[in-house]
Amino acid sequence: MAQSNHDIIERKVGLLIVLTLLTVSVGGLVEIVPLFFQHSTTTPVEGLKPYDPVRLVGRDIYVREGCYNCHSQMIRPFRAETERYGHYSVAGEYVYDRPFQWGSKRTGPDLHRVGGRYSDQWHRVHLLNPRDVVPESNMPAFPWLDRPARIDDIEDKMTTLRKLGVPYSDEEIKGARKALEGKTELDAVIAYLQGLGTALKSGKAAAPAPTAEAAPAPATNSGS
Ligand code: HEC
Repeated sequence: MAQSNHDIIERKVGLLIVLTLLTVSVGGLVEIVPLFFQHSTTTPVEGLKPYDPVRLVGRDIYVREGCYNCHSQMIRPFRAETERYGHYSVAGEYVYDRPFQWGSKRTGPDLHRVGGRYSDQWHRVHLLNPRDVVPESNMPAFPWLDRPARIDDIEDKMTTLRKLGVPYSDEEIKGARKALEGKTELDAVIAYLQGLGTALKSGKAAAPAPTAEAAPAPATNSGS
């Protein structure tokens, strides 16, 4: 019996590897490339502003301390999530996030809409010792954040982000050190947290209706 094409491919490992890579590459490109040009994934939602210097520093501290290991910043379009956290997350909210802080683990709650939920003072106490405000909390304390924020690299950070497309003006970059003067790392993290998710929170920006919302929420959903 003559060999089928399939037999030939399976017997020649080199050919199999080349064709596999080709298939995976084409499949990947077809899925990924359109996202770079899609309006809904590349345009900031109305009201979204680039991080000001204080929030930018706060964001870097959030990354440094590994807050993303326990907190996601991605609200899925399910009833259990939107009722707990607020409007589900949309792509246009993340355009100034490099890298995004979606996370994949929720030891603590999602933080994407935490902005404005608590007072600055609550955050201050909570970050220095979570047990002081939430007795059953297993979040670690971050007492070392009560020290001056680093300001000497802020212009470089903003200039680099500008190269990547964040619309910072020369004045904003020049004034960055001044904005950070006297701020502690705690101040910066709190400013960052208080701004999270607030652009869409007002409900002003129209977002497409979530398709998953139409499905009835499962009764046993633990809402994690
Ligand atoms: C080991 C896991 C863990 C890490 C790391 C962690 N958290 Fe938490 N976080 C939690 C848990 C659990 C809670 C819920 C209990 C509480 O409120 O303390 C929480 C709650 C919070 C809340 C309140 C959210 C709400 O909606 O009530 C904020 C804000 C917060 N964390 C910020 C941070 C920041 C900022 C960092 C990094 C500096 C951080 N967390 C690091 C576990 C963690």
